Amino acid sequence: TSIKQPYRTLYHFQPPRNWMNDPNAPMYYKGYYHLFYQYNPYGAVWRPDIIWAHSVSTDLVNWVHLDHAIYPTETFDINGCWSGSATILPGNKPVILYTGGDSKNHQVQNLALPVNLSDPLLQSWVKLPQNPLITPINGGIDPENFRDPTTAWQGPDGEWRVLVGTQGEHGGMAILYRSRDFVNWTESQYPFRSREKTSIWECPDFYPVSLNTTNGVDTSVNNPSVKHVLKVNFNSHDYYTLGSYSSYTDEYIPDTDFMDSDLRYDYGKFYASKSFFDPAKNRRILWAWVNESDSESEDIKRGWSGLQSIPRSAWLGKTGRQLVQWPVEEIEKLRINEVNFKGENLRSETVFEVSGVTASQADIEVSFELPKLAYAELMDPSWVDPQLLCSDKGASVKGGVGPFGLLVLASEDLKEHTAIFFRVFKNKDRYVVLMCSDQSRSSLSEEIDKTTYGAFVDVDPRHENISLRSLIDHSIVESFGGEGRACITARVYPKLAIDEEARLYAFNNGTENVIISRLRAWSMKSALIY
Ligand code: FRU
Repeated sequence: TSIKQPYRTLYHFQPPRNWMNDPNAPMYYKGYYHLFYQYNPYGAVWRPDIIWAHSVSTDLVNWVHLDHAIYPTETFDINGCWSGSATILPGNKPVILYTGGDSKNHQVQNLALPVNLSDPLLQSWVKLPQNPLITPINGGIDPENFRDPTTAWQGPDGEWRVLVGTQGEHGGMAILYRSRDFVNWTESQYPFRSREKTSIWECPDFYPVSLNTTNGVDTSVNNPSVKHVLKVNFNSHDYYTLGSYSSYTDEYIPDTDFMDSDLRYDYGKFYASKSFFDPAKNRRILWAWVNESDSESEDIKRGWSGLQSIPRSAWLGKTGRQLVQWPVEEIEKLRINEVNFKGENLRSETVFEVSGVTASQADIEVSFELPKLAYAELMDPSWVDPQLLCSDKGASVKGGVGPFGLLVLASEDLKEHTAIFFRVFKNKDRYVVLMCSDQSRSSLSEEIDKTTYGAFVDVDPRHENISLRSLIDHSIVESFGGEGRACITARVYPKLAIDEEARLYAFNNGTENVIISRLRAWSMKSALIY
């Protein structure tokens, strides 16, 4: 503890040390939220014989680390216990399906059961002697790319279904397996879904969302009032499609396929996400691994690598064309020392300090009103990639309507800052809102990936304010634009803007004045994670 750790987070989930990647098998059981995660107990880098660490919480904010739950012991997982998911079987019996690296280094799917269902902490797990239950040997599946079983769901015929991610000849795909007893699984004749030009589909997730409420829906539910989400990771991101699923034919037809749309949970760093239905609060929660943006040697020096995002509630947006995500409400109990104001003019070319919060550990909600859009720049039809547009037009590039937004983890002299901002463009008779997270000045240090991220936000600035929420926790900034219609998570490593030295500003680098119709900011207490 004598080594200064300015980048460790204080309300995001982290193990005390070492490497962490994917969240695994999140679930709610008898009053506790369970999080398992990919963990290397021996150091701050990934290794194939990775294990499942385990933590529990009653509120998704404060966590207690328990003993490791699943680790290599048998021929069917001796080379690693990779990602997987929990399914709650009838009678409130949780089980876990996970990928094992077997003694031939093939990826196989195994089942683990709690030893004692009356222990709400589910502290010990036993592997089924019949493992492996699903192997790649039949049907020409690449044995080294066959992993990450989903939460299973039950069809109207009583059979269980599960998806496993793999890599086909032309691209990634998800294969469907069915079982009556959860032990004997049969491969479905056709792949559930595939798409050319995508890399292996890792960590598939498949679940219903309600068409008319923001409540979550349990994974096996299927009726006319839901749509389905298929999320997979490929090409380094978590993409999803919305579509219709028939539990009779097991056909899932996306409204728009992968690669034809760019729907992502998050347009920054957010990978290998998992969701679960929380029966305690009737919501669907998802979260993901947020990896480091600096070098492996820095991770080793620090002794740790990887964060989990703040868990987010997710539901179908009003348009029915995208999901909306918002940090779980429990995180708000960490808020202290509120600063707030209303109706502040954020004049053209001004920077204005929001003082009174601990800017290195904060939660900010701000809403911008745009009284005039006359100077909005014209949208060029070739600007289809929001990330590219954000890197071309960073925070320092003057505009018409915007850039306006926040400078977070900023040093007093502004030499260091991460800018989260909007720009409004005019496209014929419509307006396009671009949201950016610009890390280019986030640190004086050089050896960091400072890629700028961007997303279009489905907000009409003529009819509604543009809102932004950012959760700042030392080396992570999670931003939610348009009330959760676009999310961008970034990792940053300031040299000056650390701890008490960090500052928070609002800025407007556009020609039009903008009004901060309301701003509320809080310092965040540290979560208890031990
Ligand atoms: C995703 C992933 C999964 C795999 C796990 C291994 O980050 O590559 O596909 O199961 O990590 O740790």
